[in-house]
Amino acid sequence: MLRSFALIGLISISLNATAISPVRLSGAGVIPKPVSVTPANGVFSLTEKCSIVVSGESAELMQLGKFLAGKLNPSTGFGLIVKPSDGTTQAGNISLLLGSVDPKLGDEGYLLTVKPDGIKLVAKNPAGLFNGIQTIRQLLPAKIEQSGLQSGPWTIPAMTIRDFPQYSYRGVMLDVARHFFQVEDVKRYLDLISLYKMNVMHLHLSDDQGWRIEIKKWPKLTQTGGSTQVGGEKGGFYTQEQYADIVKYAAERYIMIIPEIDLPGHTNAALASYPELNCNEKATELYTGTKVGFSSLCTGKEITYQFIKEVLGEIAALTPGPYLHIGGDESHVTKLEDYIPFVNRVQQIVNDLGKQVIGWDEIALSTLKPNSFVQYWAKADNALKGVKQGAKVIMSPAANAYLDMQYDSTTKFGLNWAGFIEVPKGYNWNPATLVPGIGKANILGVEAPLWTETITNMKELEYMVFPRLPGYAEIGWSAPAARKWSEYKTRLAGQAERFRALQIGYYPSKLIPWPATVPE
Ligand code: ACM
Repeated sequence: MLRSFALIGLISISLNATAISPVRLSGAGVIPKPVSVTPANGVFSLTEKCSIVVSGESAELMQLGKFLAGKLNPSTGFGLIVKPSDGTTQAGNISLLLGSVDPKLGDEGYLLTVKPDGIKLVAKNPAGLFNGIQTIRQLLPAKIEQSGLQSGPWTIPAMTIRDFPQYSYRGVMLDVARHFFQVEDVKRYLDLISLYKMNVMHLHLSDDQGWRIEIKKWPKLTQTGGSTQVGGEKGGFYTQEQYADIVKYAAERYIMIIPEIDLPGHTNAALASYPELNCNEKATELYTGTKVGFSSLCTGKEITYQFIKEVLGEIAALTPGPYLHIGGDESHVTKLEDYIPFVNRVQQIVNDLGKQVIGWDEIALSTLKPNSFVQYWAKADNALKGVKQGAKVIMSPAANAYLDMQYDSTTKFGLNWAGFIEVPKGYNWNPATLVPGIGKANILGVEAPLWTETITNMKELEYMVFPRLPGYAEIGWSAPAARKWSEYKTRLAGQAERFRALQIGYYPSKLIPWPATVPE
């Protein structure tokens, strides 16, 4: 039910059916902020007469049309259909076309034209259309996201949006090792990140406390290593079929899944499952605490490399994307003279599987392959070593981008070893200037990790992730000159109604001018 707004009331005074807030009127409410928004005259109204028309009969375009219809139909009740274009233009439709656009829009950009007589979305690639669809969702009233029938009108002010991202890699990481998250949870997280045009989910699939992906040649990894989690409760794992289902679900949202098997440290779950992986041939005990840095594969044994080849081989076969993440962090009990040749050899194994390595910043201590990537989380020196070797960097600075860091001292879960990250701190940094010597040309993109030592379920996950996540999405997408906290915080406040419609339990930071009441 709609109730009154207080702060938003200033800009959305009337709750009658035709009111459109100036934020929506200018298209300026969208997160991430588009490259350019040019207002025009009039308003488009979505009605039951509208069709979603796609250019050509390609299955992928029909799929995109159906994705959009799937977002619009539950709340409008219109039962919009998706059909291939017959070449004529019909008033009132939403058209999705692949076509030539300004090359500056790149692989993921789009051109969206909203006129009173229809909406036209054009992009070079399906990924661009998918991004434009997210903009259409955000231009419609927030109640479009409700799963049950709502009353309209469903209007979008006329405008043209030209848009493309700064970085091709915009992602999150989810640690499913410390606490396991079910397939349905991962799918919900994928849905939530896709609304903000993020295109990567890195899954941290193994750690001291748990092994979470079935490996057919090494079944005890999940039977034993996946049996528990932090705190000693029952663990869990994805079968290969379930994992493939996650990868497919992500791909339908133009999101790449990057699997991580953390090596050579953070491996107690594997060491507890197979005695032969230990230098002393004795399996370790399962571990359900939260300390780090105590475990290592036995880098001097050949079976270790056979293990890695077979594990990564099975995972590579489930991975359409180019990257395998090999961890490499906090191997405190692996001597550096063992660590370096180990990482060098694992990079070769990954390349032999036809994939490229991503590793946490410590891997820059080794000799990087020309196609390896370094993920900066802790030590700028390591990231710089990577850049000096020609590697590109993924920016995940713990003090700015770790979603498990608490907002402040009153946050009930999460950690604070890298400091508190209130919402403005999470937003107010520029990947291209954070570390002297690492500029935009050295950066692949931005990723916000969520470690789950203290995060046990989706309610806690969503509280830590929202409302910071749209900020990380915007850092990856929008130009630094276009980003200002003083303006962003109003757009973020405007997302409250959308969060509510999507049943996201977000942290209501006092630093954001939320509307006093939000429609339910
Ligand atoms: C990490 O936070 N250990 C990459």
